[in-house]
Amino acid sequence: MNHAANPKDPLSGQRLVVIGGTSGVGLEVARAAAARGAHVRIAGRDRARADAACASLPGGAVAHALDGGDRSALDAFFGEAGPVDHLVLTLSGGEGAGEFASLDLRALRRGFEAKFWPQLETVQAALPALSSSASITFVTAVSARIARPGTTGLAAINGALEAMVGGLARELAPRRVNAVSPGVIDTAWWGQAPAAVRQAVFEEQVRTLPVGRVGRPEDVAQAVLYMATNGFTTGSIVECDGGLHLL
Ligand SMILES: NC(=O)c1ccc[n+]([C@@H]2O[C@H](COP(=O)([O-])OP(=O)(O)OC[C@H]3O[C@@H](n4cnc5c(N)ncnc54)[C@H](OP(=O)(O)O)[C@@H]3O)[C@@H](O)[C@H]2O)c1
Repeated sequence: MNHAANPKDPLSGQRLVVIGGTSGVGLEVARAAAARGAHVRIAGRDRARADAACASLPGGAVAHALDGGDRSALDAFFGEAGPVDHLVLTLSGGEGAGEFASLDLRALRRGFEAKFWPQLETVQAALPALSSSASITFVTAVSARIARPGTTGLAAINGALEAMVGGLARELAPRRVNAVSPGVIDTAWWGQAPAAVRQAVFEEQVRTLPVGRVGRPEDVAQAVLYMATNGFTTGSIVECDGGLHLL
């Protein structure tokens, strides 16, 4: 535990796991939770990246090399990591964007394989390890609901996850299940896009968003930890998008 943390903080002493926690949003969730006194485990597929990310966190965090699509590895991980108070799912791929008429549906299938299915595998594998008051927080994407041309495939992947949140919140009660739905956030995820596309998207966000800037992973991390710690919030999906859903 971080000894500077406030022992009365609702995260103090809590066991928090971030699958996809070695970069971007997940890493900032881990950083903020560790600073508030949580016992944090982060996981991603790449061992070196996981170790480097973990070394950047306040004391005591543990890194794991784990593929959220590998059920036997997940079962072994949660068998060892439990009990878990907060599960955060930030893993994803990047495929599935583009105009529908020319969208490569094999790429969209890979997009589902990289986000939808591993998030579900992870939650199912985690269930025996989750404490009765545990929270589960998905990180989806506001593309699920903004009807933006060029993002129908991403809408399908993230909308499928968001469609499950309410039902899971009832089935898994008293555990709480929520989602944070980000807009455009400046993370390594954008490294998959051509530099010119990234620049054009970011400039458009600055020009058009009510908040006048691109999102930061810390913005989303704050929303995730609200969902994780607010004991009266379940079955909810909150946008963290600078107002993108209003445009
Ligand atoms: N950035 C945005 O503009 C944006 C917008 C809307 C929604 N989102 C969503 O926000 C979430 C976080 O995205 P981000 O921007 O923080 O992305 P990121 O920086 O690329 O981080 C993704 C993380 O997931 C891990 N990961 C990927 N596949 C995995 C797997 N199969 N098993 C375990 N770990 C895996 C990655 O590590 P390894 O590669 O080493 O496995 C990495 O730690 C994602 O669900 C993304 O779809 C992002």
